Amino acid sequence: MSSPQQQKISAPKGTVDFFPAETWKWQAVERIARETARLYHFEEIRTPIFEHSELFHRGVGETTDIVHKETYTFDDRGGRSLTLRPEGTAGVVRAMIESGALNDQGAREKVYYIGPNFRYERPQKGRYTQHHQFGVEAFGVAEPEQDVECILLQLDFYRRCGLKDILLEVNSLGDRESKVKIAEYIRETLGPKRSSLSDESQRRLDQNPIRILDSKDPRDRELTSKLFTSAVPLSAKSDAYLQRVLTLLGTAKLEERGVKWHYSAKLVRGFDYYTETLWEVTTSGLGSQNAIGGGGRYDNLVEMLGGKPTPGVGFGSGLERLLIALEAQGIELPRDATPLVWLAHHGPAARDANLVLARELRDNGIAVDMDLAGRSIKAQFKLADRAAARACLVIGDAELAANNVVMKDLKSSEQTSVPRADVLPHLKQLLAS
Ligand code: HAM
Repeated sequence: MSSPQQQKISAPKGTVDFFPAETWKWQAVERIARETARLYHFEEIRTPIFEHSELFHRGVGETTDIVHKETYTFDDRGGRSLTLRPEGTAGVVRAMIESGALNDQGAREKVYYIGPNFRYERPQKGRYTQHHQFGVEAFGVAEPEQDVECILLQLDFYRRCGLKDILLEVNSLGDRESKVKIAEYIRETLGPKRSSLSDESQRRLDQNPIRILDSKDPRDRELTSKLFTSAVPLSAKSDAYLQRVLTLLGTAKLEERGVKWHYSAKLVRGFDYYTETLWEVTTSGLGSQNAIGGGGRYDNLVEMLGGKPTPGVGFGSGLERLLIALEAQGIELPRDATPLVWLAHHGPAARDANLVLARELRDNGIAVDMDLAGRSIKAQFKLADRAAARACLVIGDAELAANNVVMKDLKSSEQTSVPRADVLPHLKQLLAS
């Protein structure tokens, strides 16, 4: 029997370890995310992965599922309540306010982030307790053009990754005035059917009726599916805003780039901070968790969190889901092509010579690896093969005596003997071929 100290420790439920066979794909999508953000002049922001719990309660919304049921909240040793971030927007807004970046007249900030988020959810394919998002937030412009810029950036990101079967759905819950109207409408329509709603939605009917729209309970779904059959009742201003967003999307000719899209009166998202436009993108190969990204406008959030009234809009895109979808669709990501050179040796004197050679090559920007455990030459060649090395340099007693190195091209299997002093130029030539 193993003692408690010897028992294996497993990863927390809902988390995933990514090994080198997969991390290169993460690097590829993160590189594409950064390149796409650059094309639209969004710059990187990095904020802490935990914040004062209050931020999410006020920002995301006390009655949302995300805050109500899914946060990882703990007291630190000083007795302060902290929460692991369940999403990126609230922290970015907090940082923007705290830095004063939004204080100037006409302030305009466009930022992006890539990082982990934490939600206590029942894990399943595409749903984890720790997931990663690429997200952007644009502050200072309350115009439909800014919403559409974010949507186009998001779609360009997917297209550059090679993703197919992309569907964009767009809706609007309008401004404050519209939201009051919608809440009243839901209360009036569902009030008489109160007892048919889930317990939670009965509570929401009093506290925050709009949240009933994203309930997954079949009893609620049955009733909410009949609420907005064609369009959401919006104020005239919000309706004009939405129409402009839809017109701009029309002129962007998304279909020509393989993206299907439509207005969807039934689309809701699980955050209280949204005003006006909201959108979600889905794709194939993911099963029920098929949303790879979503976003929306949040014109009251900066003010709600204590800043100067400043409009904002952005999206978050789940990277785990994107990678699953790419795999399911059979799409190959571009692989970092930096070639590797393997150094092999017969005996300790040759090993020492290779240690010197390794330093010289690395100083010249060439990636090198070699066996450090005294393996046989055959085992060393096997390692080179497994590492998919582009070339192998071999030194033995004969090479040491003649001051030579055997250079093997592992693609063509051609082998040449090169004077030690000429290894670098010969190797560079081979690697460039
Ligand atoms: P969200 O829709 O909650 O939005 O998350 C964005 C994306 O993150 C989802 O579409 C999904 O791909 C991924 N995601 C969310 N939860 C999980 C999970 N448990 N496991 C795996 N992937 C997940 C937001 O977070 C907003 N902050 C987006 C935003 C930014 N709106 C305005 N600005």
